Amino acid sequence: MRILSGIQPSGKLHIGNYFGMMKPAIELQRQGEAYLFIANYHAMTTVQDAAALRTMTLDVALDFLACGIDPAKTAFYRQSDVPEVHELAWILSSITPMGLLERCHSYKDKTARGIAATHGLFAYPVLMAADILAVNANVVPVGRDQKQHVEVTRDVALRFNNLFGEVFTIPEPSILETVAVVPGIDGQKMSKSYDNTLEIFGEPGPLKKRVMKIVTDSKELEDPKDPETCNVFALYKLFATEDERADLAQRYRAGGLGYGTAKKELLAKINDHFGPMREKRAELAGDMDYVEDVLRQGAAKASVLARETLQKARRAVGLE
Ligand code: ADP
Ligand code: TRP
Repeated sequence: MRILSGIQPSGKLHIGNYFGMMKPAIELQRQGEAYLFIANYHAMTTVQDAAALRTMTLDVALDFLACGIDPAKTAFYRQSDVPEVHELAWILSSITPMGLLERCHSYKDKTARGIAATHGLFAYPVLMAADILAVNANVVPVGRDQKQHVEVTRDVALRFNNLFGEVFTIPEPSILETVAVVPGIDGQKMSKSYDNTLEIFGEPGPLKKRVMKIVTDSKELEDPKDPETCNVFALYKLFATEDERADLAQRYRAGGLGYGTAKKELLAKINDHFGPMREKRAELAGDMDYVEDVLRQGAAKASVLARETLQKARRAVGLE
């Protein structure tokens, strides 16, 4: 089984990214041949500052390595170090119906939020299809919001195979339903675009402040509370064992537990979980040559597959 996923280096990683994408990707690296890349071409649709793009790309590389990407098992690379995906993207573009892209929620959501309606933003799913199909991935672990893009990839790959013969593997999205949407501190989906995130590698002071700001209802200390509708509990659940979850739920329902206490327990969980990763990240940041080496080797491995696929596609369509 070949697994591939990508993440945009367009901001500081948050708990939503971690549970929606990083953790499943890291777990899947034990089950197959894994490819993971930093989608810096995709990030250009929103980041138009060269220094920022460079810095954020390396930040994400450090984040992923600190969180458990093992370069011995996973080819970890920068998207732009495998330029073959671009040639493939054009080939795919030529057979991608406009209607398929017009239906994509992500484009509509992003333009509604004020992101410039560029051709790149519109064609984004085609480049994503090229990322996936270039290595013939079987499984693509992503959060629920990216599922539609994997479906576009499937449609385009099927269409290509029907028109030109079997070249591409049809990929499946893999979504962890239990944690499919991690709420932010305001209760909406946690997203760097909504300024409602809890950063994994943020400074302890600001992290604590943000945890304390998580929106709750206005029940008094002694009131019984409903864990199922509480943002603090929804986040706590991600870190807790079955027993810990049941225990906190019971204390919510019994009354006498303040939201401040629940928030402190959540903060302790976050710090316990990410503490060792923060140490590892600091260590890696002192050895950027190693990080560059990992990315170069990852790109070399992905390029072997991408070149092979591209050649098949070029032959199939009549470019060769
Ligand atoms: P953001 O919404 O912060 O801009 P991205 O769109 O870059 O995040 O998402 C990167 C990856 O993390 C994707 O696979 C996405 O589905 C996942 N992800 C992002 N936010 C969440 C969330 N709140 N819950 C679950 N998964 C998420
Ligand atoms: N669009 C994805 C996101 O914003 C990142 C991405 C680019 C990706 N290419 C991909 C994810 C291919 C999975 C497979 O999160």
